[in-house]
Amino acid sequence: MAVKYPIKVSLTHSSKLPSVDFSNLPFGKVISDHMFIVDYIGGEWVDPRIEPFGPMQMSPANLALHYGQSIFEGMKATKRNGEPVLFRADMHARRLNVSAERMCMPTLPEDLFLQGLKMLVDLDRAWIPEMEDHALYIRPLMYATDEYFGVHASENYRFIIFTGPVGPYYPKPVKLWVEEVFTRAAQGGVGEAKCAGNYGASLLPAQRAKSAGYDQVMWMDAVEKKYVQEVGTMNLFFVMDNRVITPTTTGTILRGVTRDSFITLLKEWGYTVEDRLLSIAEISDAYWRGTLQECFGAGTAAVVSHVSDITWRDRKMELPPVDEAHRPVATRLKNHINRLRMGLETDQFHWLNSCANSGVLEFVKEEEKAQLLGV
Ligand code: COI
Repeated sequence: MAVKYPIKVSLTHSSKLPSVDFSNLPFGKVISDHMFIVDYIGGEWVDPRIEPFGPMQMSPANLALHYGQSIFEGMKATKRNGEPVLFRADMHARRLNVSAERMCMPTLPEDLFLQGLKMLVDLDRAWIPEMEDHALYIRPLMYATDEYFGVHASENYRFIIFTGPVGPYYPKPVKLWVEEVFTRAAQGGVGEAKCAGNYGASLLPAQRAKSAGYDQVMWMDAVEKKYVQEVGTMNLFFVMDNRVITPTTTGTILRGVTRDSFITLLKEWGYTVEDRLLSIAEISDAYWRGTLQECFGAGTAAVVSHVSDITWRDRKMELPPVDEAHRPVATRLKNHINRLRMGLETDQFHWLNSCANSGVLEFVKEEEKAQLLGV
């Protein structure tokens, strides 16, 4: 691959890889050897580099800690015919910039994001797990770095990508609570941005739901508490009367990459897909009429997460058992995405981005090349 940006590479001298138990990878606990960093200083992105993953110094006056200028992405890499591939990396790069604009942060050139990402994943390719439902999770993030405690936008920022091997996010079907007290996002707010504060604000409602025996909350719109938004950290899909319905993204819902992929695949397979406002009353009516067939969450981390039941006020809707016969739509989508990532399906929509020949070797110091090549 022709590389545009010179990216300095420093290798770790004590890889953590031998100590990792790949048969036990709780989501988010294990972090790979290297990270990609680029700083925004004086109005320019400077000094892109790959370094050993490790702690960084931060001033207590750092603006991000006080006023929340902090955004992230979540992506996955897998191996396809033995080579690392990313899934729709360009779409994630664009979405990061949409979040950046909303949070008054600088955008990052997409080709710099992609070059750094591909080199990092190529370098740490030995960390990509190859078991079913496993992947190398990728966490790009950007945050303010000014030391200043007046409320204003930072002038300087840092962008980092680090990765970690993961197993399934939700190992079993989820039980949902329809949340009518707390709100995730309102029109004109930051619901569409992948900013840290959205996740911070979801923790208390999620914890309360967990104490009451549920796994996640189903968010309702902020004004009427009538229309379904998202679930926990995922977009939602319902199958009712043989139609697939997903709440439309009108500014308060994250525009999920998995959501977009599912809509494209379902249309291609001939399903009727409705991307529209969907009220909880409509779902409840369908359930009590016996026409609510499936409900599932869609996100990068989980891919598909089947919903086992939904409780709205004092009534519980128990959905059909989670097996291929009762959940054909969710099962087909999940299998397709997993198989595509492993090279067992044709990449019809050109969603996979290869990390092979990323050019990372060009930037490794001569004396460290042997270490990388394992010779
Ligand atoms: C994802 O699905 O990648 C997410 O961002 C959800 C969560 C792990 C924050």
